[in-house]
Amino acid sequence: MYGTGPDAVTALGPLSLEVPAGSFLVIVGASGCGKSTLLRLIAGFEEPTSGRVRIGDSPPTPGKGAGIVFQQPRLFPWKSVGGNVELALRYAGVPRAERARHIPELLLRVGLRDVAHRRTWQISGGQQQRVAIARALASDNPLLLLDEPFAALDALTRERLQEDLRLVSAQTGRTSVFVTHSVEEAVFLGSRVVVLTRRPGRIALDLDIPLPRTGLEPDELRALPEYAALRATVSQAVRTAAT
Ligand SMILES: Nc1ncnc2c1ncn2[C@@H]1O[C@H](COP(=O)(O)OP(=O)(O)O)[C@@H](O)[C@H]1O
Ligand SMILES: [Mg+2]
Repeated sequence: MYGTGPDAVTALGPLSLEVPAGSFLVIVGASGCGKSTLLRLIAGFEEPTSGRVRIGDSPPTPGKGAGIVFQQPRLFPWKSVGGNVELALRYAGVPRAERARHIPELLLRVGLRDVAHRRTWQISGGQQQRVAIARALASDNPLLLLDEPFAALDALTRERLQEDLRLVSAQTGRTSVFVTHSVEEAVFLGSRVVVLTRRPGRIALDLDIPLPRTGLEPDELRALPEYAALRATVSQAVRTAAT
């Protein structure tokens, strides 16, 4: 709940979610239903009014327990691409010598091998968001939180980043919680999709996405009949949840 008295806003209704290690959970819901609030609770930036959040056995440590990617990349413009990643590694406590080794690895992982020395304003919006993902992967904590990270990108760039993120998540085995209002994005990325109702957000649908995480080209995946069926199920739930 935000605020007190007559101005109080209850962002989230009662809800219980357990996210198994290594899974990719996508939260879908209309604007204002409490998606960002849920992520901030998991990140430890907010305290729940009632209930609790546990990561393993511990409460979340604000700013430390998870790599976070926001809708805007929020990079440091006075630093190079590599410099931004370096800062994240330093913040994660990685010693200097190891940082030099990790930077190219991380940039390669997000498809940015050649731009390490560029300034962040010299690269495209999609590339900036790739830097933000590399930065979130810099600490070795196992949790990745992404709040509509591709919402501001054009459709083609967005699709590329979705494809690469899907691969990165399979390769790194990070536990991910990804927020979006796109049904397409949810079914493509998630190993599980949770649809929230309107504010105060509660769980309207909790659906496993039993599609292969590796071995298929993105287009092959999107062409599967099961894919279309899952998309229809989520779409229906989103429509019902909005009314
Ligand atoms: N810091 C805040 N103070 C007061 N109200 C807030 C704050 N953050 C979010 N809210 C309200 O809580 C509700 C859920 O917001 P949010 O979690 O940002 O939704 P979403 O990310 O799904 O769009 C909205 O009604 C919003 O106005
Ligand atoms: Mg939000």
